[in-house]
Amino acid sequence: MKQAPNIPVAKPQLGQREKELVIDCVESAWISSLGRHILEFERSLAGFCGAAFGVATSNGTTALHLVLEALGVGPGDEVLVPSLTFVATAAAVAYTGATPVFVDSDPQTYNMDPALIEAALTPNTKGIVPVHLYGHPADMAAINQIAEARGLWVVEDAAEAHGAEVMINGQWRKAGSLATAAVFSFYGNKIITTGEGGMVLASDEELTKNLRLLRDHGMDPERPYWHPVVGYNYRMTNLQAAIGLAQMERVADILEHKATIGRQYDQGLGDIPGLILPPRAAWARPVCWLYSVLLEPEFPLNRNQLRVFLAERGIDSRPFFTPLHKLPPYAAGQEMPVAEDLAVRGISLPSGPAITPSEIGRVCEALAEAAEPAP
Ligand SMILES: Cc1ncc(COP(=O)(O)O)c(C=O)c1O
Repeated sequence: MKQAPNIPVAKPQLGQREKELVIDCVESAWISSLGRHILEFERSLAGFCGAAFGVATSNGTTALHLVLEALGVGPGDEVLVPSLTFVATAAAVAYTGATPVFVDSDPQTYNMDPALIEAALTPNTKGIVPVHLYGHPADMAAINQIAEARGLWVVEDAAEAHGAEVMINGQWRKAGSLATAAVFSFYGNKIITTGEGGMVLASDEELTKNLRLLRDHGMDPERPYWHPVVGYNYRMTNLQAAIGLAQMERVADILEHKATIGRQYDQGLGDIPGLILPPRAAWARPVCWLYSVLLEPEFPLNRNQLRVFLAERGIDSRPFFTPLHKLPPYAAGQEMPVAEDLAVRGISLPSGPAITPSEIGRVCEALAEAAEPAP
């Protein structure tokens, strides 16, 4: 019997426009980090999110490191990050010589729990990096309120949440414009992709100048080969930006398509016992980055068994991230019961933009089969 093709977790969807703009780079020979697509891509994402400035970078991790450096984070400082996130959120803090201090998750949204922030603050705390995990925004209103009262900056890690929105003071506002600065990733599995790529969004002009200076070898833009600070080469190429710009031209369609994928899963999985579907707080409009579900104890398989069950049917999946306080570079005996519980029960299903309705149907059928009690 012919085996149905494998269903990857997240395959990007690139079209004719991406091709045209990349060909434009090749034909014009603007393939390095100068070139008009970079500025246009920066303006496009910043405008879409409601931020004043965008600073494109080589990837999301360098964007995080860059913004922390530009904010003056260094040895002796502490930065609050959620434990349940991709490792780059904490690694970027470690690059600066500062210490990432972990905060447990809110069981409703899986994001940094604002109620636990106060207890994690010390006189060395300089700022907070909430993450919009799997596309659901962190509770930015609560986090900003605490930060403001303490004189801390906040950087959104929006790597997984292009287009997500939060209700603040009666208005829907986009992730990326909700704090001192925000960081995006455009890795191949992200909602908007450039293959590898990242961007910092900010609305403060001085901070933006500093970001550009540090990104471009610390070189004074008015004075060639004069480097007043130690900088980095964290630039994005025009080739990457060309792909990103093509994606931004149809961002509304991409987001609508992702929402349709989420709805199809909601319908296909809603009646299966033992599954908790992705959260949606009343104040949030999440985006479906990776459609991620939790297994309840009554589900016949545990998460790892389910991943094997799906793999046997040609369906790729991802476990939730390992809570960072459990990883060797960061472990110091901390206990984060909510993050630890989510991490063993959570699974992300194939939900990239190239997935087809029949593939989603196959995933739902496999989950329904897995949920059947043993005879
Ligand atoms: C929450 C989060 N932060 C940061 C990153 C780092 O981005 P990149 O892979 O582009 O370096 C990622 C993803 O890859 C992420 O999911």
